[in-house]
Order: sequence, then C-alpha cells, then structure tokens
Amino acid sequence: MIITIDGPAAAGKGTLSQKLASEYGYAYFDTGMVYRAVGLKMLLSNTDLKDIKKAEKEAGELDFATMIELSKNPEFRSSKGGEAASVISSYPGVRERLLDMQKNFSMNPVFADGRPANGVIYDGRDTGTVVCPNAEVKFFITASPEVRAKRRYDEFIAKGMNAKFEDVLRDVKIRDDRDANRKDAPMKPADDAIILDTTNLNIEEVFNEAVKYIESKKK
Ligand code: C5P
Repeated sequence: MIITIDGPAAAGKGTLSQKLASEYGYAYFDTGMVYRAVGLKMLLSNTDLKDIKKAEKEAGELDFATMIELSKNPEFRSSKGGEAASVISSYPGVRERLLDMQKNFSMNPVFADGRPANGVIYDGRDTGTVVCPNAEVKFFITASPEVRAKRRYDEFIAKGMNAKFEDVLRDVKIRDDRDANRKDAPMKPADDAIILDTTNLNIEEVFNEAVKYIESKKK
C-alpha cells in the first residue's frame, strides 16, 4: 500500500508518518530530504541559492547514498538548511530532476537497512498530487502557523539549538508562502485527500484518526 502525507512545514507529518510506518511495517520516505540535500550541496560549495543552473545540476546528480551521507551534516536539519531547501524547491527544473528518485521508491520500497517493505509512507508537500497520484490513501495535515511554529521551536530547543520563537514563526510563514506559490506544483491537498487539522489534536488523536481511515480503505 502507498500512503501519502502532505502538508505545510511543522504540521506533524514526520511524526505521524513514522508512527504509521512502524504500525504497518512500511518503509518511510521523507521527501523533504531530497530538497534539503540539494540545498545543502549549494551551501557547502558557497553557491548563491539564486543560481538555478547549479541547483538543477546538483538535483540531476543526486542519488540515495549521497542524500543519506549529507543528512548526517548538522546543517541538514537546521533552519538555514530548511531555508535553502525551500528556495531551491521553488525551481521547476530542480523538482523535475528529483521526481524519478521519489517515484521509483514506491516500486521497490526498502527499509534503511535494505530489507524490502510491503508498503511505503511518503511525507512531503506534493506526494499525493505529483509523486504518487495513484496512492491508495492520502492525507493532508495542517495546523495554524502559530501552533506549527511552536512545535518547530520546541524541537530546536530540545535538540539544544539556538532559536527565537518570532524567527521560527516568520520562517514558517515565508515557507508557507513559497510552498503555496510554486508555479508548477503549488502545495495543495489532492482531490481525494483526507484533511486533518491538528491545531487542537495531539499526536495520538491524529494517529487514531489516520489508522481508522486506513483500516476503512483496506476493507
Ligand atoms: O519537510 P521539510 O521541511 O524537510 O522540507 C524542506 C523543504 O523542501 C520545504 O520547505 C519545501 O519547500 C520543500 N519540499 C517540497 N516538496 C516536498 C517536500 C519538501 O517542495 N515534497
């Protein structure tokens, strides 16, 4: 089974995806990683993020092994890394070059140690609309910008990183704006996606809702 979970930054996609992957024994593909990998490549080579040609070249050359290696760099998950990913993800040529890598995973999903999996959970912005339009189950997770910024801020603090709530909130709003206004692939729910607003729900409640829906689809 293919399950897609899309939605804006810090809506709880990653947590829900990982809980579902462990519940069902499915592989997990965090598609933000492909954009973070290209963004980090640009940062590490001191390339101006406005250099579209270079971003396209990096995207064209990216493979899984390189992405996993880059993900070990502390900047990969930092807000600077997220911002770089957000900028380069707005280039249609970059998205196009990263599409096959994301699509192909669903044909042969594997766990991190290489074992094959019976299904996959995709986490991203466009996985139900562009990457896997044929997915059997699609969720679109959202929450107010303030609640999402608070969750992201708490994560940074828990990791011992420096952060100011106002800065995180501003970044969340800038990223929302960029996600919503991408010319070729604006972030929007697929027509057949179930929308989960997590503003007033905790992770257990979101998880239970999602499981209920998946079970109904399996019948
Ligand atoms: O989810 P994460 O914060 O790791 O994503 C980093 C950036 O990659 C996002 O801000 C978004 O701009 C971009 N992205 C995307 N499409 C996806 C996943 C992420 O454009 N499917």
